[in-house]
Amino acid sequence: MSIFKYIKELANKREEVEAGGGEEQTSKQHVKGKWTARERLNYLLDEGSFVEIQPFLTERKNTENKVSLNGDGVVGGYGKINGKPVCVYAQDFTVYGGSLGEMQGKKIASILDLAGKNRFPFIGLIDSGGARIQEGVSSLDSYGHIFYRNVLYSGIIPQISVIMGPSAGGAVYSPALTDFIVMVEKTSQMFVTGPKVMQEVTGVQINPEELGGSAVHSQKSGNAHIVKATESEALDAVKDLLMFFPPDHNPEKVVISPPDKTDERPKLLELVPADSKTAYDIRRIIEQIVDIDSFIEIHEKFAKNVVVGFAKLKGSTVGLVCNQPKYRAGGLDIDASDKIARFIRFCDCFHISIITLEDVTGFLPGVRQEHEGIIRHGAKIVYAYAEATVPKITVILRKAYGGAYVALNSKALGADMVFAWPQAEIAVMGPEGAVSILNNEEIKIGSNPQEAREEMIKAYREKHANPYTAAALGMVDDVIFPDQTRIKLIQSLEIMYNKQEERPKKKHGNIPL
Ligand code: HXC
Repeated sequence: MSIFKYIKELANKREEVEAGGGEEQTSKQHVKGKWTARERLNYLLDEGSFVEIQPFLTERKNTENKVSLNGDGVVGGYGKINGKPVCVYAQDFTVYGGSLGEMQGKKIASILDLAGKNRFPFIGLIDSGGARIQEGVSSLDSYGHIFYRNVLYSGIIPQISVIMGPSAGGAVYSPALTDFIVMVEKTSQMFVTGPKVMQEVTGVQINPEELGGSAVHSQKSGNAHIVKATESEALDAVKDLLMFFPPDHNPEKVVISPPDKTDERPKLLELVPADSKTAYDIRRIIEQIVDIDSFIEIHEKFAKNVVVGFAKLKGSTVGLVCNQPKYRAGGLDIDASDKIARFIRFCDCFHISIITLEDVTGFLPGVRQEHEGIIRHGAKIVYAYAEATVPKITVILRKAYGGAYVALNSKALGADMVFAWPQAEIAVMGPEGAVSILNNEEIKIGSNPQEAREEMIKAYREKHANPYTAAALGMVDDVIFPDQTRIKLIQSLEIMYNKQEERPKKKHGNIPL
């Protein structure tokens, strides 16, 4: 018998697998403005680099599925992005709504193993109605195998999830366990309990977008780190992110080149208003400090009072944690604490140096904040900075008051280098607040309370609200000229590229959650 019979049979089977749920389901997907799993992978991966695994994996014959599910509703394997290997899967909504059956779960778990054992970033493209109902407990079990591996390889390889359609029920928790979630406007939603069940159980009527659309998760819940208008932009965001990440947790020795005259930034002398109460946009400062157009913001619309993101400094990846004086005076609250702590921990896992740009009056006061747990959440910032052993540098631009001064990478928490600009005020609290607590009675009984108050504020500012007291005590390593900030940071990283910091051996710490 000719071999060609077998070749033809294989070709036919491949064609059948590649057709996914068939023409009708594919055109439904296109009508919704969504690509198919294979179209997404084609766009994401370098041309011709995709190597598919387990294309013929299908459901057990004893399930109640009505049709045969070649590939079991997921396409996956490995490929390259900008020449670097990645492991990837894309759920196929044309097959039972991308729902996760036993075999789909096994395939995703094996791709995660491939990524973890070979130390490649792992990317999931999610488009799924959750646990495949007709496969019962086997689908739930399969989710467990995926979650277990998300956790097993957490901190070993970067993991990114892109939500490209519904992500319902069990489909939310693997993304939630990965390092970054990217969502697509209008076509992606995430919810543990969908609108239909929500109405049934609670009587609340809500549409999918209002319940778990990209706006909800990027602004309110904080589940989504990046939101893009289209599928192609969302996949481009993944490509951009990967430019900042090493393939795994093994330290790469990146020798940074020394600074030169071109690294001076005279504009920094004008960008921060001298009056400590006037707002400004911290992004303008970041732009001046990092390599041109290299900053990628994470959680842009969530907890806007702080700004975090990745950038390059003389070509080397850094993570930036900054107060944003434009929103709530850059104060720290519950969401800001979660945002900062999670970002620091990612940087620390993957040896990314952390630069903190500080201008903050403190933790935001408020009954709601206290009752909802600012103590527990704020402690995460302290924990994350103290735990991190990557190079950690702080620049105090203007204000560094109270608990926020300590929490935001102070020398005592293990900062390698703390710089302050000459206008910096480092104190327990601002002069006005301090005087009204310390000198209130004295002011009241004087002949000219207003004048007395102003004098006391001036005296406090001279004594406490300047960078030199902290510099004299070694809590600030140097008071620097603002236009030299980029140079100082590059010089610091030059010496810290080989930083080693041993900690006592333990199973793991217990970060406040
Ligand atoms: C089996 C499913 C499915 C599921 C969708 N489908 N979800 N099949 N199991 N979970 C099928 C539909 O029957 C349909 O098949 C096809 O996929 C497309 O679905 P539609 O409903 O037509 O699409 P759409 O209108 O876009 O709505 C998508 C959806 C909706 C919002 C995802 O299907 C939905 O609400 N599904 C259920 C979501 C949910 O509650 N999942 C939680 C499961 S429990 P046909 O043949 O008609 O094309 C869970 C817990 C796990 O996940 C916990 C683990 C820790």
